[in-house]
Amino acid sequence: MSNRIVGLRIFLRSGSSNSIFQQYAHIFVLVSGGQGVFIPALMKRTHHCSQLRKSDAGSAATLIGWVDSVRDHGGILFVDLRDREGLTQIVLDPANTTLEAQFGSIKPESVIEVTGNVQERIEAAVNTNLATGEIEVHASELMIHNVSKTPPFPMDDTADKTSEDLRMTYRYLDLRRTSNLNLLRLRHKTSQAIRNYMDEETFIEVETPMLFKSTPEGAREFLVPSRMNPGAFYALPQSPQQYKQMLMVAGVERYYQLARCFRDEDLRADRQPEFTQLDIELSFIDREDMYSLIEGLMKRIWKDTLGKEIETPFLRMSYYDAMNRFGVDKPDMRFDMELQDCADIFASSEFKVFKGTLDSGGSIKAFNAKGLADLTQGELRGLEDSAKSLGAKGLAFIKSVGGEWKSPILKFFSDQEKAAIEEQLQVEDGDIVFFAATEWERACTILGRVRLEAAQLLVKREKLTISPTDYKFLWVIEFPLMLFDEEQGRYVSSHHPFTAPVVEDIPLLDSDPKKVRGQHYDLVLNGVELGGGSIRIHQPELQKKVFEDVLKIPADVVESRFGYMLKAFEYGAPPHGGIAFGLDRICTILGQRSSIRDVIAFPKNQKGQEMMTQSPGIATEKQLRDLHVKAVLPKKES
Ligand code: AMO
Ligand code: AMP
Repeated sequence: MSNRIVGLRIFLRSGSSNSIFQQYAHIFVLVSGGQGVFIPALMKRTHHCSQLRKSDAGSAATLIGWVDSVRDHGGILFVDLRDREGLTQIVLDPANTTLEAQFGSIKPESVIEVTGNVQERIEAAVNTNLATGEIEVHASELMIHNVSKTPPFPMDDTADKTSEDLRMTYRYLDLRRTSNLNLLRLRHKTSQAIRNYMDEETFIEVETPMLFKSTPEGAREFLVPSRMNPGAFYALPQSPQQYKQMLMVAGVERYYQLARCFRDEDLRADRQPEFTQLDIELSFIDREDMYSLIEGLMKRIWKDTLGKEIETPFLRMSYYDAMNRFGVDKPDMRFDMELQDCADIFASSEFKVFKGTLDSGGSIKAFNAKGLADLTQGELRGLEDSAKSLGAKGLAFIKSVGGEWKSPILKFFSDQEKAAIEEQLQVEDGDIVFFAATEWERACTILGRVRLEAAQLLVKREKLTISPTDYKFLWVIEFPLMLFDEEQGRYVSSHHPFTAPVVEDIPLLDSDPKKVRGQHYDLVLNGVELGGGSIRIHQPELQKKVFEDVLKIPADVVESRFGYMLKAFEYGAPPHGGIAFGLDRICTILGQRSSIRDVIAFPKNQKGQEMMTQSPGIATEKQLRDLHVKAVLPKKES
């Protein structure tokens, strides 16, 4: 039998002497087949839990919130009551028999409402760490709204050590923890700072469709079957790129959006299948305009969220320099240990690997991991494994211990070579120098990774400080427009096909595409790519040439996928450019967290599942039939 309300009794209480807020009605609901339930109909708190001060002593207050902790001091219960603003200590005296009856229900995380008298604490009991630490509320009335079961993990930061899937299954409890609630607040403040700045800069926020169509040249997409168009699928947008360019043709001039984007990628700490971009596009601008707009934006975000002044203009570095000096296109500029080119030192080396590499046009790169000569065998193996995972055959090293150099390859080095290494890499006692000999890009990438891992080992030994609040912004510029994809045997865009080439490089599009630089820029912060964008192509002829002649996309495919865009460019397309930032990544850095999952209210796990609601779920036969879709499961699961 279903529960049915069979009777209602309403108790109305008027406010106490000093408070107009304190009115509430209790509705006693009788449900058939069950017991009666008290449902408080109208509750008004007079203060939040971080509000009362010494000056409030003597007055009455009504607070409502969650029981943070209960302490029994010889029958007197001390309850820390918590809401999103903070804590207030409540004192429940057993002499008050109407309260005592309910003591057993005051379990941590239950929701209670307390009315009582604000009193100054005795001096010895003052808690200077708490905003309300000088007072406590002596309860005269207590209402228990909801009794909580024991949470499946601790409600303080020790919960971070428990299984993430468990915390995500109970994400409403996980988020209730103050540190997590504060991250949601930080994210709100960040969006607010962005909206204020963009508005002041005369940008218009425009929403673009979530049901879009499939586009190539990007990440794998999420498809959505169209019931009304059998066999046809929408794709969820990887970014609003094409729509925002159409908004420029439409004359919007300055667009932005906090846009949800979807990419069916393998997940990592800095990637989610759905994430939020701060997406921006402007007309009539060049790269310099973009740099100063964005520097102003970052200044504003850091000021409004952390109260921190950041220095502008930001450093700029070409993609080539970033790779050559740091082995990565998003260098962490908080520490040095730069890669060196050692071709000159080893020009006539007796070490076959080095000599052979140079003879075949490769590079020998090295860097000095200052003070890491004491690394363990296990740590060394870890670095070697990382190098090998990037295609290294090995990871040569020399270490200087007790005034003596040690290395399995020392015997191949002449005194002259040793002196040159010592000088160029500034080798001192306690240092270890790593080498990579292979093609330039691979050598850089390998040592780029080893450099980052070595830095972590040095941090662990407290020989290097990398502070999360040292904000080193960097523009990485002059990326190649195209990369040659060996697998596909053709060029692919290094960012996306709408990026304009640097004007003086346009003639190279036919003769030597890989030499063409793009008008692309990435904003990097402390080794994280915060965002990227470019000045776009706005002439239909050039856009068509890039699609067909350089990227070798067949003309009919270009027409079906981008025909509307080429057409739009024939109706007065303004010169334009834009950029997009990962909002989640910005918040992660602001909140000093290591995973973007921490700043997303309901993130997905490594398998793309949202544990609380158990999504994704299995579709019913009927749903699939209606959508004209057939599920073909992999063998073992069917
Ligand atoms: P791009 O693909 O570089 O550019 O994306 C821009 C920024 O979005 C963030 N980002 C992600 N964040 C979390 N999870 C992901 N899976 C993820 N993928 C990307 C990153 C990245 O720098 N339309 C272009 C921008 C433009 O040209 O204007 C674009 O989407 O912080
Ligand atoms: P605990 O650390 O669990 O011993 O709890 C100490 C807390 O109880 C402090 O926050 C005090 O404010 C409170 N407390 C203990 N005894 C008293 C008391 N006699 N009067 C007021 N507060 C007390």
